[in-house]
Amino acid sequence: MKIKVLGSAAGGGYPQWNCNCKNCQAVRNGTPGYTARTQSSIAISDGSPNWILVNASPDLLTQIKNTPELQPNRGPRDTGLAAVMLMDAQIDHSTGLLMMREGKTPMRLYTTPAVWEDLTNGLPLVPTLGFYCGVKWTPLCTECDEPFSIAPLESIKIKSIPLVSKAPPYSPSRYAQRRGDNIGLLIEDQNTGKKVFYAPGLEEITPDLLPHMLDADVLMVDGTFWTEDEMVAQGFSSKMAADMGHLPQSDKPGKPGSGMISQLKQFKHQRKVLIHINNTNPILNERGEERARLTQEGIEVSYDGMEILA
Ligand code: MLT
Ligand code: MN
Ligand code: ZN
Repeated sequence: MKIKVLGSAAGGGYPQWNCNCKNCQAVRNGTPGYTARTQSSIAISDGSPNWILVNASPDLLTQIKNTPELQPNRGPRDTGLAAVMLMDAQIDHSTGLLMMREGKTPMRLYTTPAVWEDLTNGLPLVPTLGFYCGVKWTPLCTECDEPFSIAPLESIKIKSIPLVSKAPPYSPSRYAQRRGDNIGLLIEDQNTGKKVFYAPGLEEITPDLLPHMLDADVLMVDGTFWTEDEMVAQGFSSKMAADMGHLPQSDKPGKPGSGMISQLKQFKHQRKVLIHINNTNPILNERGEERARLTQEGIEVSYDGMEILA
């Protein structure tokens, strides 16, 4: 399979429109060692011209402009995007759906029932799209362990795995997570036998995730924050990483072994890649000590346009 990172930043992107933090300033000034990023999304293909869009970012149109494989190549109206799957109902992962409203057939959308409900009521993108292309929904099961495929990508088998993270701020379940508010994926290509675990929003590596992660060849996981109090320490928010459903790279104060770097040590044979990186995160300085630490630990930082073959 081929995975294309369309957007590697967290909500707000990098630089963020109203942010003057050190990183946003540096990238706006063209300082060497800082690279702009669009908001969180990947596309998966089996090697054919067909792709599954995983998360629809508000930057989707820019991402398609930057990705010839997704552009209309086969007829007067065409797209490489066969279907869309969402990991949650967050704004940075869902509002790009509106940019696909010109589709000539109903959009094929795969979400959990919890995400469907948020996008029907709290942020009514689904009823809105009903007035344009319409939506053909396939519910993702959060109780069954059965892998499924999405036509025409028959060799790609996907398992949806419920995760501990957070529903969006507008959701009635923001403070009482429902199963299926957030999921990750275990994606297998049956032609190569390789598997990728993808979880851009992940607050905790719970024991039930271990078999899936150990089974994977590549782990693409939440890279939002370097520290638990990053937004608070930089004066941008009163929210800690956990309040937003993210596991920081560094250990939490008083909790040795709790951070993503420590947690990833148990995966000895997997390629490890961070995705969904917030603009405040010091790992965005490619020449900084935090980035050097990741490199030392064998952890990569994804970038827009990155391709992962598995
Ligand atoms: C999050 O994952 O916490 C989001 O990026 C927040 C947002 O989209 O504003
Ligand atoms: Mn996000
Ligand atoms: Zn910033």
